Amino acid sequence: MTLQEKEKKIVEVIKELKKVNYPGYSRDIVSFGFIKKIDVDESGYVFVDIEVPTEKEDVFESIREKVYDVLKHREDVEISVRKREIFKKNKIPIRGKSIAIYSTKGGVGKSTVAVNLAYSIKKIGFNTAVLDLDIHGPSVPRITGTQDYEPYSPDGKNISPAEKFGVKIMSIGYMAKGDTPVIWRGPMVMKAFRTLTFSTLWADTDVLVMDLPPGSGDVQLSLAQEADISGMVMITTPQELALEDLRRGISMFKKLSVPILGVIENMSYFTCDSCGKRHYIFGKGGGRDVAKSYGIDFIGEIPFDPDLMKMSDEGRIYVLEKDGEVSESFESISKKILEKLSLRK
Ligand SMILES: Nc1ncnc2c1ncn2[C@@H]1O[C@H](COP(=O)(O)OP(=O)(O)OP(=O)(O)O)[C@@H](O)[C@H]1O
Ligand SMILES: [Mg+2]
Repeated sequence: MTLQEKEKKIVEVIKELKKVNYPGYSRDIVSFGFIKKIDVDESGYVFVDIEVPTEKEDVFESIREKVYDVLKHREDVEISVRKREIFKKNKIPIRGKSIAIYSTKGGVGKSTVAVNLAYSIKKIGFNTAVLDLDIHGPSVPRITGTQDYEPYSPDGKNISPAEKFGVKIMSIGYMAKGDTPVIWRGPMVMKAFRTLTFSTLWADTDVLVMDLPPGSGDVQLSLAQEADISGMVMITTPQELALEDLRRGISMFKKLSVPILGVIENMSYFTCDSCGKRHYIFGKGGGRDVAKSYGIDFIGEIPFDPDLMKMSDEGRIYVLEKDGEVSESFESISKKILEKLSLRK
């Protein structure tokens, strides 16, 4: 069997499996990340390994039956459907949904995108908030110009977030100020994560956007295991290197059964002021390709704009000040995310 033939089979089987929805949901088991492994051997036999994270016997049985049902017409497929124990996830104290912005590689624009996405969704008419979970290198206070905020506790238990132009913001940066970097160790990171996430007074937040540090360390793991996040949004630039990392990231969250809402490609192209043409400085279409090969949705591209960098450095919110293609792409991405979260105005 050639590689192409094997890939074709995998795509076919995945397509069939996408017909199986989680009971009571309109989302399928592929997008929930239940497919742990899918392989084709030399004789063309397909092995599918499915893991369902549930304690409910009826849910498990129903998924199992449907999987066998959609694949019963194929004689070249061997299926294994297993049940996996789930971690007890805590509810983030918000009224609506939460998304986490993730990339394995540093500097691809997570913090910039997280902040502008929150304001863009706010403009559409939802209450939004930003949670900076980059414990080691918080940058949201600077990007939002809220460095001077002093958090306080109105009840001796919970903390009040900062607020700028109607968006609530929380970051470890408000507590650990000064030039001396704080050396956080594992358990402290976990404690900081829990306090920021579960003890902030998020009130009537409809959409909480979480900015993560790069990679797959303690914070990502705690978040995926302990919090009831609605989904991950992966960010990449069109470069090959970043894409390789993204592949790893996707499989990590799939393993932890956290829904992946889709991929955003940042710094996709640069539109030249004088000639008006799009220049694909880092390559073209890489994010879209990787999304496709993983069966994940491509949510959109954000162009490169030096003003985005400049304004973020000055604590100014780009999407509130500048119209044009960057703000438009944030708007279109926001709408797609809201749709995925089933939030309607
Ligand atoms: N579309 C864009 N156009 C121009 N500059 C951008 C764009 N997106 C991000 N930047 C700039 O790129 C740099 C890195 O962005 P940012 O800090 O948001 O990345 P990050 O992924 O959060 O980094 P880290 O992994 O270190 O947390 C910043 O200077 C930011 O202003
Ligand atoms: Mg960052």
